[in-house]
Formats: sequence, structure tokens, C-alpha cells
Amino acid sequence: MLIGVPAEIKNNEDRVAITPAGVLELVKLGHRVLIQSNAGFGSGFEDKEYISVGAEIVPTIEDVYARAEMVLKVKEPIAQEYDLVREGQLLFTYFHFASSEPLTKAMIKSKAVCLAYETVESADGSLPLLIPMSEVAGRMSIQEGAKYLEKPLKGKGILLGGVPGTPRGKVLVLGGGIVGTQAAKMAAGLGANVIIMDISLKRLRYLADIMPANVTTMMSNQHNIETAIKEADLIVGAVLIPGAKAPHLIKRDMLKKMRPGTVLVDVAVDQGGCIETCTPTTHEAPTFIIDDIVHYCVANMPGAVPYTSTLALTNATLPYVLELANKGWQKATEESLALKKGLNIVNGEIVHKGVAEAFA
Ligand SMILES: NC(=O)c1ccc[n+]([C@@H]2O[C@H](COP(=O)([O-])OP(=O)(O)OC[C@H]3O[C@@H](n4cnc5c(N)ncnc54)[C@H](O)[C@@H]3O)[C@@H](O)[C@H]2O)c1
Repeated sequence: MLIGVPAEIKNNEDRVAITPAGVLELVKLGHRVLIQSNAGFGSGFEDKEYISVGAEIVPTIEDVYARAEMVLKVKEPIAQEYDLVREGQLLFTYFHFASSEPLTKAMIKSKAVCLAYETVESADGSLPLLIPMSEVAGRMSIQEGAKYLEKPLKGKGILLGGVPGTPRGKVLVLGGGIVGTQAAKMAAGLGANVIIMDISLKRLRYLADIMPANVTTMMSNQHNIETAIKEADLIVGAVLIPGAKAPHLIKRDMLKKMRPGTVLVDVAVDQGGCIETCTPTTHEAPTFIIDDIVHYCVANMPGAVPYTSTLALTNATLPYVLELANKGWQKATEESLALKKGLNIVNGEIVHKGVAEAFA
């Protein structure tokens, strides 16, 4: 199969859909790979690295879309790409159709085959192509939180791990899924005292088994949250109720119970946030302050670490890319239920229930 990888042209998107290691795997199986010149630059991969494993570098995005049978991307096509997409062409990328009617209409019009990373689903109900970005965001939440706890950045002026003779910082993690687990591990590794809360007792049992001694598991309820926020230096919001807006576990009036300079990192901001006062921010201006409390609410946290994010994403996507390249999308989606769930729009028709419902 002829696979094409355009450069991402969405604002501030430095990831790329394939690494040289991935190209090598495809080339070994007899496939051909076109890479738009400099597509990997933002993630630290130069054209010559792709050439050395057998890719062909093409100068423009038009070349990629005009020739490729499968276009491999990270983000959804943006308006200037809509007319480049061809009938019958397979697009494998994050789409998030439900949040964009113009994109949905454009892809219907194109009669392309749109397979969305975010709806590929394993037999156990997990979303294998979303997990890597949650892992990145979870780990980053502590790195960012620790930074904004510094006094010049309006934090309390606390070093999370403390030093001999001083107290450890206190971290509260709300939600013990992928994001919360990675956050708790990072905070514990820095030496902080960590509380992680979830509503699932089963999950808390698991976390209690695997976490180090400086992590305490607690049931998530209003009483426990109100008690813990008084002491916490850094609070990470990491709850998810699938298909629904995140519940506001920290309401505006609760900010008064926190000490000035407390830092809130609401990773769940992309689902509306679990802290009432959080509204989405960007990497250019990541924080704002309300009632002396620092709010960090960046909706695309992995975008700040494109090298790690590209590797994490492509580690997860490559097995599916190989399946699609080897079998073609029809056979691959017939034989793999996980991939079949990724089909969103096929030849001008919406074939995914969630996307269809989003537009009535
Ligand atoms: N901002 C970003 O850049 C970014 C990146 C990746 C993921 N996210 C978001 O982070 C959030 C968490 O993702 P995840 O992959 O960890 O989800 P997950 O499903 O793995 O975990 C969510 C956890 O929240 C728990 N939960 C639900 N209600 C709760 C409550 N009231 N109190 C405490 N815990 C509760 C669930 O039991 C579950 O364990 C999602 O909204 C996701 O979209 C944001």
C-alpha cells in the first residue's frame, strides 16, 4: 500500500503520525511511505532519518494527498485540507467529529473512509489510542504543577519533595484512572505525600496494591474532598465519566478553603473540567488566578512534549497501521472489531452511532 504522512498544519501541533522506526516496519513488509518534507521536524525527526529507512520525501501536502492510498495523521484535517481528501482514500487520525460539524460535512462530501483513533476500542472497552495521551498528560500534570508552585509563578513557594528537615508537599489527585495513576506515581516519585481519590472501590484496591507507601487511597466524596483541599498544595483533576461532562467536584466557594498559592491542574478540562472555576487555557498562557489560587487548564497538554507524545502515540497506532496496510481497510475492519469501531464515515455516510447522534 502507498501510505502518506503530511505535516500537521493545525496551530501549535508538532507531533507527526509516524516515526522512522514505523516507516522501517512498513517498508520491510513491502509498503511504500511518502513523508511530506519536514513533517517530523517538530518531533525531532529529520527528513534524512526517514530517507535512511526507505521513505520518499515529497515537497508539499498536495503531493501526499494526491498520491497516498492511506493518509496517516495526528489531528483532524483542517479547512485548507478538506478539498485535498479524495474519494475512497483512507484517513487514519484523531477526528473528534462530534465537536465539528464543518469537518463532518466535509468528510461526508469527500467520500473518503475516515477511521478515527479515538473510537478504536479494545475488547475490554478501553480506548488504546487515547491511553498514551492520558499517560503523557497525567505525568505532565505533576511536572507543571510543581513548576507553578514556585513563588515567581504565583504558587505557594513549596518544593514538592521537600528536603531533609522540612515537610513534604501534599498532592491530591481526583480520579484514579490512567491520568490519575500516572500523576500519583510521578508525585510519589518526587517525594510528595499523595492522596488519590476515586469512586470505584475496585480501582482503589488496585491502586493501594501498586502504589508506594507515600500514596494514600481514599473514596471520592464531598466530605473527603473538602477535608483534603485544605491541606493540599497541588490538586490534579483527572475524573472521567464516559460520554458525559465531568462532575464539578471542586466548586467555586471551595477555593476559599484552600491556602493562597495552591495550584489546580484540571486535566479533565477537555470534558468540561472537574473544578468549576477551570476554563480551557493554552500553552501560550497556561494559567490564571482566581481567589489567589493558580489554575492550570491546558486542554492539549501532550502538545508541549511532541517528541514523547509522538513516540507514545505511534507505539500505539503502528500495529493498527500495519493491519490496515497489509489487509486494506475492508478486510482489516471485518477481522478486527477494535478497528471496526474506529470507522466513523465511509464513502459519504456516517457509520458511527455517536457521531450520527451528535448531529441528530
Ligand atoms: N488536558 C489534556 O491534555 C488531556 C489529555 C489526556 C486526557 N485528558 C482527560 O483527562 C480525563 C481523565 O482521563 P483518563 O484517561 O484518566 O480517564 P479514565 O477513564 O482512565 O479515569 C477516570 C477515572 O475517574 C474516576 N471517577 C469518575 N467519577 C469520579 C468522581 N466523582 N470522583 C473521583 N473519581 C471519579 C473513574 O472511576 C475513573 O477511574 C479525561 O477527561 C480525558 O479526556 C486530558
